[in-house]
Amino acid sequence: MGTNWMNEEVSNLFDQYDDYLEERLGYKPLIENLKESLGQNISVLDYGCGGGKVSRRLIAGGIKAVTGVDISQTMVDKASNNINRGNSSYHQINTGVLSFKDNTFDAAICCYVFINNNEKSDLLKIVKEVHRTLKSGSIFYVLDTNPDSTGIKFSSFMNGEPNKKYNDGERRLVYLDLPDGSIFEISDTHWHKDTYYEILTEAGFKTIELFEYSDVDTSKDTEGLQYYPPFVMFKATKF
Ligand SMILES: C[S@@+](CC[C@H](N)C(=O)[O-])C[C@H]1O[C@@H](n2cnc3c(N)ncnc32)[C@H](O)[C@@H]1O
Repeated sequence: MGTNWMNEEVSNLFDQYDDYLEERLGYKPLIENLKESLGQNISVLDYGCGGGKVSRRLIAGGIKAVTGVDISQTMVDKASNNINRGNSSYHQINTGVLSFKDNTFDAAICCYVFINNNEKSDLLKIVKEVHRTLKSGSIFYVLDTNPDSTGIKFSSFMNGEPNKKYNDGERRLVYLDLPDGSIFEISDTHWHKDTYYEILTEAGFKTIELFEYSDVDTSKDTEGLQYYPPFVMFKATKF
């Protein structure tokens, strides 16, 4: 069974997790790339917004308007009640069903959501709806834990077990370190990178680019050095 994001305790524990690594090697480069590509005067759909951690960062980064959607009313309430929400709004949805018209948003993001769905058909539903509600020329970013960095103990989490190879669609435990020294265990689904390309392409997205940020300085000689980026980011365009 996956993580129950409707559960209040799960939602509170996720809030306690210090996402500085996600910020530095995930959210920050995503928001920078978005602003470089489309500027700030845009409306962004945050699919699977959770408690609004990324939406608030988009607003703080100068993005004009953010619309967050999530399957969990608990998470939507949390996001809506935050005093720093600025020009953002939050809505509860069912998987893959959005009440927005075609061609509504300039961009969309989907952070740590693919790994929370264990059916490929649900991934496709999500991405098709995102594609439908984006204007042409829009960009869609998908950010997730890196399927090629399982079992590596990063400074704040470990994604899967050491020395284990995961199959596409297999359940994988993730261990998040909380500030009090305890571990918050969540259950994700392992998706190979090929699956992300497949789903994005099938939903109609083009020019899919892959980004993997790490602390290793790749401008120096890294030959023979095995390094593991903690996250993976796909940037896809709708024409
Ligand atoms: C790990 S949290 C990430 C929240 C946020 N994107 C972030 O980066 O902090 C995953 C969120 O995705 C939501 N979610 C999972 N599957 C979903 C689906 N099929 N449709 C909408 N929301 C979904 C969950 O309810 C949860 O709030």
